[in-house]
Amino acid sequence: MSSAVEAARTEEARQGGPPLPPLVLAGCGTVGGALLGLIREGRGSDDLVRSILVRDPARERPEPLPDPDGGRVVTRPSELPVEGGRVVVEALGGIRPALGLARRTLAGGGTFITANKSLVAEHGTELEALAAKSGGRLAFEAAVGGGMPVVRLLRDLPDAARVRRIEGILNGTSNYLLDELHAGRSWSEALQSARALGYAEADPSRDVDGRDAADKIRLLAWVAFGVPPAHVRVTRRGILPDPEALVAEARALGGVVRLLARVDPPDGAGICRARVEPCLVPRDSPWADVRGADNRARVSTARAGTLSVSGPGAGGQATALSLLTDLGDEALRRAGGSGGLARPVFPVRTIVAPDPDSSRAEGHPAERWHLSLEGKIPGHPEIEVRPRLERILARADIRLVDVDRDSGRLRTVLETRHAPRVDLVGERLRALALEPRLLRLAER
Ligand code: NAP
Ligand code: HSE
Repeated sequence: MSSAVEAARTEEARQGGPPLPPLVLAGCGTVGGALLGLIREGRGSDDLVRSILVRDPARERPEPLPDPDGGRVVTRPSELPVEGGRVVVEALGGIRPALGLARRTLAGGGTFITANKSLVAEHGTELEALAAKSGGRLAFEAAVGGGMPVVRLLRDLPDAARVRRIEGILNGTSNYLLDELHAGRSWSEALQSARALGYAEADPSRDVDGRDAADKIRLLAWVAFGVPPAHVRVTRRGILPDPEALVAEARALGGVVRLLARVDPPDGAGICRARVEPCLVPRDSPWADVRGADNRARVSTARAGTLSVSGPGAGGQATALSLLTDLGDEALRRAGGSGGLARPVFPVRTIVAPDPDSSRAEGHPAERWHLSLEGKIPGHPEIEVRPRLERILARADIRLVDVDRDSGRLRTVLETRHAPRVDLVGERLRALALEPRLLRLAER
């Protein structure tokens, strides 16, 4: 046995799997820097990282760059050696120059592992097509939910499970900000610390106006339903313009504000609709339990019940761990599945969705908040009315705008001036119904 093969086997045995492949790192800020740190810590060296792209090599950073004189640090995207089947980890953010790097990598049959949700939401299908043609691979676990393994959960779920809905808190920054406001801190203080902790995007307006969460729910729809992310119609409202008023209102109503995203499978016409909006949730709801920059996703299926996953939704180390997970998959793939743990490469099922140009129903036209409840028809003896919800409804100024009786179930949409949309989701929601008294109040 040659010494190189022997060394590789020793490494494999030490790590419990095949060794990570050499890689090129585009971006060494919060996420890229944390990945560099984890590689150094795990291997005692950063030799695996063959080249690193940054804007300003002189900038002081928590994880120092390798010696700039060693030739591994570059500042122009064109200098980054991404062709020839390389593994490229991208943690730059934004569309340019990330898109060019992705195209070059994938066209050359390489693997592009990214934390960049806006890139994948906008250009994912093009990149996946490039990868399919060249034998390359696109992976983006880190792009949704930071360290929360939700892409993996959906990717590994057989179609036969039949995903019926995906809901989630998918933006760590806005959850952190809302939590801080609930705890009495001011908006500017909270925003400053979200940035200092590395949670916020380079342009934090993407976090607070819901664009970041909208990109992520599009990616989840792609993985779960095969709908190209650019074709998912998202109705979006963030926690702006007045998050402090939102929190005060929720507090007065006995609840907590959460920025929730959700997407349903494509309808009969092939249209996939998603929403991102601030919701008032009861204090004892699982959504209220998601604290700080954590995220949570709930996948309702027809055949596997409800699957939930939660974890750190932002932050350098947590996100870098997701990049490492994708790198681990790549190692297994390169080793031909040795170790018996190899999973199929990311199987994006692309279906053709209609009318890509009219796909971005962004923004929410309604001035008023929506309150939406689902339950069994009021008056049924089995209905359980939760006192907390009653209180919330009693104090809200509500108006019934839609009742949809569908196969014995009541879906009630209410508008209220005072409360954000109440999203009583899941098991809890199914057990709830409007008390007749409240329904009458609503109908006035
Ligand atoms: P960041 O701290 O701003 O780091 C960006 C890095 O990219 C920096 O090293 C920067 O160089 C480099 N860079 C940016 N534009 C460049 C250009 N044109 N040429 C060369 N280098 C360039 O951002 P981040 O927070 O790590 O986020 C990176 C990506 O991860 C984004 O897509 C973000 O959405 C995603 N993400 C972030 C988190 C999080 O918690 N932060 C979590 C999940 C996903 P300099 O260092 O010289 O400035
Ligand atoms: N800014 C993003 C967030 C980073 O706060 O969720 C993780 O994608």
